[in-house]
Amino acid sequence: KHDVLTTIVVFGASGDLAKKKTYPALFHLYQQGLLPRRTRILGYARTQMEHDQFASRITSFFKRDQTTQSAIDGFLSLCGYVSGKYDVDDDFVRLREEIDRQEHAMHKRAEDERVHIYYLALPPSVFVSVGTQIRTNVYDGSCTNRVVIEKPFGHDLDSSRKLSKDIGALYAEDEIYRIDHYLGKEMVKNILALRFANVFYEAVWNRHYISNVQITFKEPFGTEGRGGYFDEFGIIRDVMQNHLLQVLSIVAMHQPQSLRSEDIRDRKTEVLRRILPIQLEDTLLGQYVGTKDASKPGYKDDDTVPKDSITPTFAQCVLHVDNDRWRGVPWVIKAGKALDEAKMVIRIQFKDMPNALFPSLARNELVLQVSPKEAVYIKTIVKEPGLSTNLAMSELDLSYHKRYQDIKIPDAYATLILDVLNGDHSNFVRSDELDEAWRIFTPLLHQIDRDQVIPLPYEYGSRGPKGVDEFATERAGYKLTAREYHWQPKPNT
Ligand code: BG6
Repeated sequence: KHDVLTTIVVFGASGDLAKKKTYPALFHLYQQGLLPRRTRILGYARTQMEHDQFASRITSFFKRDQTTQSAIDGFLSLCGYVSGKYDVDDDFVRLREEIDRQEHAMHKRAEDERVHIYYLALPPSVFVSVGTQIRTNVYDGSCTNRVVIEKPFGHDLDSSRKLSKDIGALYAEDEIYRIDHYLGKEMVKNILALRFANVFYEAVWNRHYISNVQITFKEPFGTEGRGGYFDEFGIIRDVMQNHLLQVLSIVAMHQPQSLRSEDIRDRKTEVLRRILPIQLEDTLLGQYVGTKDASKPGYKDDDTVPKDSITPTFAQCVLHVDNDRWRGVPWVIKAGKALDEAKMVIRIQFKDMPNALFPSLARNELVLQVSPKEAVYIKTIVKEPGLSTNLAMSELDLSYHKRYQDIKIPDAYATLILDVLNGDHSNFVRSDELDEAWRIFTPLLHQIDRDQVIPLPYEYGSRGPKGVDEFATERAGYKLTAREYHWQPKPNT
């Protein structure tokens, strides 16, 4: 498809998301030769900037050690910048003129297929205003239009529906790409292959063999300066309702009819529909406090956070998928800031061996480590090697950095933007999926607000509030493997 003329407009080009994620991802694709041959990238934001200032801002997160100045210059030659307000017609008309000019510079011919991508790296307060401006003053019905939006998509079911309705009045669903960047992560994308390309996983992927599933997100740092945004949302809206639930739906869904994006999204939505709303009784909430030695601050020590905030920075809950495959299997999702480590894992714990010939040592687990280092391992019992006849806990281990030493795993945003360029919706959230995700969490969120539920304190850098470990054992029948066992990512040798 070499003759496609592509224009990408990044709204909010002077902001954090654009600088840290969007432009580095676009540059990565450029370096890999994956941007269409005729592409222009226009930034749009309120700040007035000269080209040099703009250039140094958007390249500030490029990994200098992995690139050359000439590659950066080549990329910058595709980039332009237009400054304007987010609600002024004339400014958007100027943007439209600039797009025309750029297409002209790419030698537009009447027969060329043209794609316009509008990437809204913007706060939700200006979503609809910018969406409307684009639709009125920029949108060109004679080309393919794609609008990329970023969370937050509302803060509960009603506000999300309102947003979907407003955006839906402007663009068709197949023009909209809702980003959940977890869907662009290597190991999350791998779930589909693992489950449906291997005969043995699918065979045991049900309540007969699986005892419980844990999906865990831990960050070793607090909000540190981002507290203003975070305090309005809290950890459930920030990470659970979107990232963790998306992952859960892929682990839980039935096999899609095909790999077409709507088939995949149908299956994910179907499984979400079978999840009952989460109850407060099935939830543990926490908020971090400073360390005893005062070396690390508490959440409320952050100047951007109100001193009486009761926003949870940690949450753990158990939910149930009410279908024949999963009935009776508890799913524990857990997310927290300022914990003891950086980790995102999916842990599938199998049932005890029935009528075991051997004494029970521990349960098999299939662990998918999404970050920091991608890995898949299966906790497997073997005979202790040597003259002993005892059993030992070991693992079948696929650590990506060891197995795929020469492959650099791309940032989630690079794969997602590539999907947008290819018009592939598989890894984006459809509006009915989003609706279901809010349905599951909204009663809980409203109850927390209404009853002013106070989260339990936990120390910065700890494992979480009191009861965190017992929660999985008591609520989900999770059995901890003996403490001596620790899986360690293998070093590169
Ligand atoms: C974002 C949340 O969506 O995801 C942040 O708003 C969180 O609070 C981030 O830190 C985690 O993403 P990643 O890719 O660093 O795991």
